[in-house]
Amino acid sequence: MSFDYHEAFSRNLGWVTETEQEILRNKRIAIAGMGGVGGSHLLTLTRLGIGKFSLADFDRFELANFNRQAGASTAHLGRNKLEVMVEMARGVNPDLDIEQFPAGIDADNLDAFLEGVDLYVDSLDFFALDIRRAVFAACYDKGIPAITAAPLGMGAAVLCFFPGQMSFEKYFLLEGRTREEQALRFMLGLAPNPQQLAYLADDSKVDFEAGKGPSTPMACELCAGFAGTYALKILLSRGRVPAAPRGIHFDAYRNRLVTTWRPWGNANPVQQLGLKIARRRINSGRQAAAVEAAFRTRPIERILDLARWAPSGDNEQPWRFEILDDHHVVVHGRDTRDWCVYDLDGTSSQIALGALLETLRIAASGEGMRAESALRPDSGEDAPRIDVRLVPDPAMSPHALQPFITSRVTQRKPLSTRSLSDHQKAALERAVGEGYRVHWIEGGAGRRQMARLLFRNAHIRLTTPEAYEVHRRNIEWGVQVSERHIPEGALGLDLPTRRIMRWALKSWERVRFLNRFFAGTWLPRLQMDWRTALGCAAHFVITAEKPLLTIEDYLAGGAAMQRFWLEATRLGLQLQPEMTPLIFSRYVAQSRTFTAVTAEQSLAEKLAGELGSLVGAAQDPRQRVYMGRVGFGPAPRSRSVRPPLESLLLDAPG
Ligand SMILES: Cc1cc2nc3c(=O)[nH]c(=O)nc-3n(C[C@H](O)[C@H](O)[C@H](O)COP(=O)(O)O)c2cc1C
Repeated sequence: MSFDYHEAFSRNLGWVTETEQEILRNKRIAIAGMGGVGGSHLLTLTRLGIGKFSLADFDRFELANFNRQAGASTAHLGRNKLEVMVEMARGVNPDLDIEQFPAGIDADNLDAFLEGVDLYVDSLDFFALDIRRAVFAACYDKGIPAITAAPLGMGAAVLCFFPGQMSFEKYFLLEGRTREEQALRFMLGLAPNPQQLAYLADDSKVDFEAGKGPSTPMACELCAGFAGTYALKILLSRGRVPAAPRGIHFDAYRNRLVTTWRPWGNANPVQQLGLKIARRRINSGRQAAAVEAAFRTRPIERILDLARWAPSGDNEQPWRFEILDDHHVVVHGRDTRDWCVYDLDGTSSQIALGALLETLRIAASGEGMRAESALRPDSGEDAPRIDVRLVPDPAMSPHALQPFITSRVTQRKPLSTRSLSDHQKAALERAVGEGYRVHWIEGGAGRRQMARLLFRNAHIRLTTPEAYEVHRRNIEWGVQVSERHIPEGALGLDLPTRRIMRWALKSWERVRFLNRFFAGTWLPRLQMDWRTALGCAAHFVITAEKPLLTIEDYLAGGAAMQRFWLEATRLGLQLQPEMTPLIFSRYVAQSRTFTAVTAEQSLAEKLAGELGSLVGAAQDPRQRVYMGRVGFGPAPRSRSVRPPLESLLLDAPG
């Protein structure tokens, strides 16, 4: 059967006249990006009878495109998106005149891409903001109308930019902004009323980790419907199309159409307020990192970006990274034994470092790489250097714990007393791996015993000047997130207690005064230790089969601990380490003094005995790797975050 344009698109007639159909046949539309929305745009506009296209994309189809991209199918896996979409469009109209840009678009081929174009339909990747700005600016200069339709939730938000009216740049105001701020402005400019957020079912998936956010096929099809309709109206001069600063946002899920009007674009006071709120939310941690991560193109940087979320005592992050090449990073460790009483011989730092290396290994699996680490024999114990080599491995699939790296968090508030199922306990026991065991202290009686132990142990923490020195340094007051310390909000204390502690921790004299005359330790101990020890499913102690003697032993112990914590996160559990009784008991086991306050040193000796009887007296204290509590409950709203990767590089300032 031979192809006949008039017959093929005859059912458009009625909604358009024959003359109009002929006009559409002679129009050229440029589409950059053949992915989620681009593929649907191309097919819809082809069926509308548009006769000429200029198309660009350099990407290939992969499995993760299947939920929404018009050309994504098993038959097309691994194939070039542009090639496939051209084939599909030509399957609808073999006479199509298509200019192809298989290397994508850049400043050099932009003029050629827009040559003879009547309309530009934006389908670039969300984060490709530099090239997007360049395309919109070129369209504006050349007098080409431009449409952008964003798939949001189960709806679409559309903005059009017409020559002589408000430009893309004037609306979004991206010039001179950081990449993160640009992404934020683009997002809020597209959807000044982000109505889709009302039904977001799992916000951990919006972290754009590695540039991924959730999207639905319905939204992509709605975008194509909008863009096709506006293309028709613009190309046939058939009436008003809202142009920036007006936008239109239809949400099928909410049965709701919103038209927005933001004179001055992002400079509008309403937008400014929205940006401020959004910035606050983004700054509250993960999202900021995730937005940053989405821009990273080097796998090694993406891996380190995840690895830096490993836990460390007081969020000290005793590591720096030296990237030697794309497959080799040196992790420079250090410890805090010289000032931190909790870092006995640097072992807490070594456990954290072990957790970091394990996180790095798990993160590397997501990039199809094996991470092999080796401690440099010549490096000092207080400043270990570890070579990590990333070896591409086709057999490697992403580790099951990888998605939980950034959501793993310390919860210092009371949790539900709902007990762990056998299945959950078994999963946690498996997670620590060979050579380690998990001891559980659970049930009402077990929890009460632990509460008594922790309550008395807290007396040591709160009345010794050595510990005071640490607490003074490691809490960041007045904040909900902290990049280098523990934020006030994450302490798990009520407001009056926080106020008292904040006042007291300003000087050792104040602490002594409070302890002496107002039983100052009671409030924080009740809240931080007693209540929480009772409010959990179980306490746990991870032990090693052999005593931990070398730095390698502690690194391996830290890795086991991190697998346990990530597995707990995977199971929907919250976790808080309870390390200080274990650390004091190590001092005692080695007959070492950790405080000048003799009464507290004697108390530690007594408690070390009690801990021994809880965990198993026969056991060597040097076998104890990690201790804490787990339970069900919401994740904390306030948490320690991490500074950007750049400031963790070896040569970073400060
Ligand atoms: C070796 C080690 C010991 C820790 N000890 C305690 C502890 O005794 N009590 C506590 O509340 N948190 C403890 N933490 C948790 C850290 O304070 C926490 O991981 C860090 O502030 C980062 O916060 P995040 O886990 O929420 O990301 C410990 C963490 C590590 C790695």
